[in-house]
Amino acid sequence: PIVLAQKTFTHQDNLKYPFEERGLQFGDGIYEVIRIYDGSYYLLKEHVDRLFRSADAVKINLAATKEEITDLLLQLLEKNKMTGDGKVYLQVSRGSAPRDHVFPQGIPANMYAYAQDLPRNLENLQKGVSVITQPDVRWENCYIKSLNLLPNVLAKQEAKEHGCYEAILHRDDLVTECSSSNIYMVKDGDIYTHPATNRILHGCVRMRVEQFANDLSISFNENGFKQEDLFTADEVFLSSSTSEVMPVTMIDNKQVQDGTPGPITRKLQAAYENDAN
Ligand code: PDD
Repeated sequence: PIVLAQKTFTHQDNLKYPFEERGLQFGDGIYEVIRIYDGSYYLLKEHVDRLFRSADAVKINLAATKEEITDLLLQLLEKNKMTGDGKVYLQVSRGSAPRDHVFPQGIPANMYAYAQDLPRNLENLQKGVSVITQPDVRWENCYIKSLNLLPNVLAKQEAKEHGCYEAILHRDDLVTECSSSNIYMVKDGDIYTHPATNRILHGCVRMRVEQFANDLSISFNENGFKQEDLFTADEVFLSSSTSEVMPVTMIDNKQVQDGTPGPITRKLQAAYENDAN
């Protein structure tokens, strides 16, 4: 496999970082996960835009334009002869320097990206998934796609240990998002989700879900909803670049209605398929 390292390409075995690397030592960096269908990026512009928003928010100098990064990401697919479904992971840390909380001066950010095959999760997309609920113990800047993922990792692991696919997070009573996806419920034909504030990651797929809802004349309500609402919802689904539009059919061991994906979720899944192909 060929990886992007800074602004050049190399075999992944040549990618070596010193142990004093700020991504490793402080989680001092940002990342993106971008979906690939049939060898082409889906929502590439949205991901590159968000990368720049994250970089600005944490004062990392990317030392590249959006056009340059877009071009490098396109070359990455070509060099790996990607033709099927996959994903690209792109990470930028503040750089390598002797460990000090204060930003080092005059060193470049460390950027790398790699592409991997990732088949669509067709069985889960068809049947839906089970999830648990967990308190959202993260910081106040969840709109930044930061490398600091320990609370997300712990929540997802808790889900796994309960035989579940994801953890729905709630801050006090209000449902925010999941450990690595956005969350929605449907009640009386309307979609409800947390507003795109600093408390959630503004998902690229979430932006498309809003557009699909508008196209389908389904109301997309961003006033949020409560944890207890999950248990009386008509439908629940989550979204992300890797999960797409994923039906949630069981929450904390309780079925969502009859435990099968609902009609609005199905319409949004169809809109997604249409958009991504
Ligand atoms: N996760 N919320 C969180 C906390 C996320 O980590 C993600 C993405 C999303 C959905 O964002 P998008 O629609 O842009 O993929 C929401 C990626 C896939 C990951 O960390 O692997």
